[in-house]
Amino acid sequence: MGKKQEEQAALPLPRHLGIIMDGNGRWAKKRGLPRSAGHKAGANNFRAITRYCSSIGIEFLTVYAFSTENWKRPADEVGALMKLFKQYLEEALRDFMEENIRVRFLGDLSAFTPDLQELIARVERESAPKTGMVLNIAMNYGGRAEIVHAVRGLAEEISAGRLSPAEIGEAEIASRLYTAGQPDPDLIIRPSGEHRVSNFLLWQSAYAEYVVMDILWPDFKPADLDRALRDYSNRNRRFGGV
Ligand code: IPE
Ligand code: IPE
Ligand code: MG
Repeated sequence: MGKKQEEQAALPLPRHLGIIMDGNGRWAKKRGLPRSAGHKAGANNFRAITRYCSSIGIEFLTVYAFSTENWKRPADEVGALMKLFKQYLEEALRDFMEENIRVRFLGDLSAFTPDLQELIARVERESAPKTGMVLNIAMNYGGRAEIVHAVRGLAEEISAGRLSPAEIGEAEIASRLYTAGQPDPDLIIRPSGEHRVSNFLLWQSAYAEYVVMDILWPDFKPADLDRALRDYSNRNRRFGGV
């Protein structure tokens, strides 16, 4: 191990890292390519960065792949994204099997076509015995929709007489989110330079550190992740204390 690697290895890593994979469209535009080409490049990069995160010991990685608002995009772009999801999940089945990665999906999956839903279920099922990094892929995910889903679940339990309103606390909400049982994200990285949350992990990110980077997602390299991790390791997290 070189000196630089040793220094990097000694830094406190986030247990749970979130990445908003943004900037595919601008990456394609800069090259005079269709937006779908940007999504393809972004998907390739997703595989590379996932592998890297697993190799350095990240325990939970959550990537934002498609938001509840992204359905507003032109039909051909949404169609291209759905095709890519299918293709990449098939490849992921092979990839992640070798990598000891467990894959989970966050979001309302009922909106996807039956064959995509089947593939999602297969990836979850076949990777369930894995003991390495947990990879959460947020698809048709929205932080608000997730909270609505949790609240609806609580309301159903109340109306069935299994729960009383006074029993509702933070834990009762957290355990009905898609991330139930997982630690909150410590660090959220947003490539592409936008300083906004865009409905990602609203509840869970209450005390997450943010790093916004002026680099488009398809160009985002392991070295950029290392930079963000170094920045994170210098933060003083107080969680409201002193
Ligand atoms: C992120 O890249 C991918 C998805 C939202 C599916 P964008 O498509 O948002 O890229 P920009 O922000 O337009 O560059
Ligand atoms: C957030 O990016 C969603 C994903 C990266 C999947 P968007 O490109 O949709 O966010 P806005 O529209 O810039 O806020
Ligand atoms: Mg965007």
